[in-house]
Amino acid sequence: MQTAVIILAAGIGKRMNSDIPKVLHKVAGAPLILHSIRAGSALDPEKIIVVTGHDATIIENEVSKTEPQAAFAYQNQQNGTGHAVTCASKLLKDFTGNIIILYGDVPFISPETLAKMVSERQNGADIVVLGFRSENPGKYGRLIFEKGELTDIIEAKDATESQLNINLCNSGVISADANQLFELLLEVTDDNASKEYYLTDIVGLAHRKGLSIKVFFCDETETIGVNTRSELAIAEDLFQKQARNRALENGVTLVQPETTYFAFDTVIGRDSCIGPNVVFGPGVSIESGVEVFAFCHLEGCHISRGAKVGPFARLRPGTELSEDVKIGNFVELKNSIISQGSKVNHLSYIGDTTVGEKTNIGAGTITCNYDGTNKYPSTIGNRVFIGSNTMLVAPISIGNDVITAAGTVVTKNIPDGDLAISRTKQENKSGYAAQLKNKNPKGY
Ligand code: UD1
Ligand code: CA
Repeated sequence: MQTAVIILAAGIGKRMNSDIPKVLHKVAGAPLILHSIRAGSALDPEKIIVVTGHDATIIENEVSKTEPQAAFAYQNQQNGTGHAVTCASKLLKDFTGNIIILYGDVPFISPETLAKMVSERQNGADIVVLGFRSENPGKYGRLIFEKGELTDIIEAKDATESQLNINLCNSGVISADANQLFELLLEVTDDNASKEYYLTDIVGLAHRKGLSIKVFFCDETETIGVNTRSELAIAEDLFQKQARNRALENGVTLVQPETTYFAFDTVIGRDSCIGPNVVFGPGVSIESGVEVFAFCHLEGCHISRGAKVGPFARLRPGTELSEDVKIGNFVELKNSIISQGSKVNHLSYIGDTTVGEKTNIGAGTITCNYDGTNKYPSTIGNRVFIGSNTMLVAPISIGNDVITAAGTVVTKNIPDGDLAISRTKQENKSGYAAQLKNKNPKGY
């Protein structure tokens, strides 16, 4: 069965009180809508269509950066979720398979849940609704059952007192046959409290036509929606708790789990150990047996087996650490490869650089990669000893088995096996300090 995913994201998101579109607010380092798109993508769909309206261009530009496969349908006026789905139909003219509808502000629906909904469809259900049980059903649409069958979904605004007591809720996620879905939507009216075309009305219509409707229930934590900043904080908290548990279950040691912050895509291998207060930005993958000591900030980097990082290290995008590399305190690395067994242990900035194997970068070494306009690369060979406080003025190339003397400012390439030293010669003025002290006994 071919699948197309439609993600609704045209709403204004007024309650966020923000100039940033709601679905671009981030959880675990990724915009809300990317969580929905990733869940949908896991089904390997034919098409992913995002329906945009408010701030359409901003949302489309942001989504396209990481999800170039996504197509966009424009909803001119926010006339309701049913109307929004209809707007996507133009991009699905020749599509005859299964449609899954997700919301851009409901980020945690799991790919496993979506796969189960698809298999309900394959087993013959015309429409599959994703429901959940809530102790606090508030504004969610209520699932109306008669004799064990879902016969309707009623929005809280339109519900009677007794319907409001129902705690079986609509998550918003629906899976249906494309042709049936769009035909049912033609019959939906805006005769309700919101004067909107509700997607949820297709359930009552389908029931009256005798179509088969199934409900798949998931945990409430999957269905939480983000409408306010405080719900955003709740979503972040929930994500972090789940990510910590997953890491612990996968055999990662978190010394103080509640202080580890994960991104949506963090990968950490077995028997790695993460110290307290470590923050993972997007794009970090860590092999097994790695130690990350306290207070490190990592983003867009890969760390190989046996490497040690921190405390207080910052790895920025494009950093690649090979096996058994050591990165120490107050070291910043950006867009650099550090090869096997090399060390950058103290107070350094290494940017746009390739470092060979078994090389030691001394304390305070800086790659001067930026001249105010452009960035330039540095290469450093194998078994090199870079003396403390060496300035490597890029572009620069340093051979194998080189030594630089402490304090050297390297502006010329260094061939294999050379020692580079650039300092003014030291002169000791005999007894001069003692004389100065005598002249000014109160000083120093
Ligand atoms: C919707 C469901 C409700 C469900 C709840 C779950 C309907 C009528 N109601 O209510 O049953 O319990 O989600 O979270 O479907 N959107 C558009 N265009 C529109 C209107 C909405 O793209 O014209 C988008 C919004 O941007 C949002 C999503 O659809 O991403 C849901 O819309 P929202 O207005 O938040 O629906 P709820 O009232 O939460
Ligand atoms: Ca909502």
